[in-house]
Amino acid sequence: MTAAIIDGKAFAAKVRAQVAEHVARLKDESGIQPGLAVVLVGEDPASQVYVSSKGKQTIEVGMASFEHKLPADTSETDLLALIDRLNRDPAVHGILVQLPLPSHLNSELVINSIEPSKDVDGFHISNVGLLGTGQKSMVPCTPLGCLMMLRDHHGKLAGMNAVVVGRSNIVGKPMAQLLLGDSCTVTIAHSRTRDLAAVCRGADILVAAVGRPEMLTGDYVKPGATVIDVGINRIERNGKMKLVGDVEYASAVAVAGAVTPVPGGVGPMTIACLLANTLTACCRAHGLPEPAGLTA
Ligand code: GUN
Repeated sequence: MTAAIIDGKAFAAKVRAQVAEHVARLKDESGIQPGLAVVLVGEDPASQVYVSSKGKQTIEVGMASFEHKLPADTSETDLLALIDRLNRDPAVHGILVQLPLPSHLNSELVINSIEPSKDVDGFHISNVGLLGTGQKSMVPCTPLGCLMMLRDHHGKLAGMNAVVVGRSNIVGKPMAQLLLGDSCTVTIAHSRTRDLAAVCRGADILVAAVGRPEMLTGDYVKPGATVIDVGINRIERNGKMKLVGDVEYASAVAVAGAVTPVPGGVGPMTIACLLANTLTACCRAHGLPEPAGLTA
């Protein structure tokens, strides 16, 4: 028996189609077009790829895309002034500042200057607090995508043992909050966890978000468990560059019940959820009902 493959690429296409349908209806019925502003400071090549991909997909679902590309030496004052303008612009429902920022800029200060209701990344301290207390918030895109795939695969998650490996603010911590919100029994494990393999083998749901190529092998997986691999690591193998996850795919797939591949698993869901969050923010801004199935 090998594991079922959870097709994130197909799922993301479905989410984008749902978003596009809502957007079309919004325009028809209310004349409202959701808008997403993406701010990129500097020329980090990976960030440039992400930003252009975001812009393209934003337009494809019928939203307005506002791209702001600023030079690497942009001052904090200028960046904060731009965010202030976007905060007050009624055509902008979502604001995303691409991370990492150049080192002379204070990321926390910048992120916390975004109006929380437009913070489609869910990184603002208000959204973190709202999520942690089970209130309506903007939810970080990657963990939201993971939650959607888990709900789709399992239906209800209540009572399941979930182990999240990784404690980042972007993935690990919000993922744990979301699983707790769905009544899982949640463990957050990390690099200092004792006997990590044994802890992971207790998981019905194992989420790998450590950023270490192929660290979790089949030995870490309980037979039949669902494995969500958030890792995207570029490694060289046999003289070729290759994209691998935080899970050793071949050994995990022999033990697990279901796994997300890399590439084509969690990755495509992140931008799909960014678009879903922008739609949600737009609906909330206009006092309209939120899109069903696209929020936490
Ligand atoms: N850089 C890498 N991933 C992300 C993300 O999800 N949001 C932002 N803003 N920057 C990122």
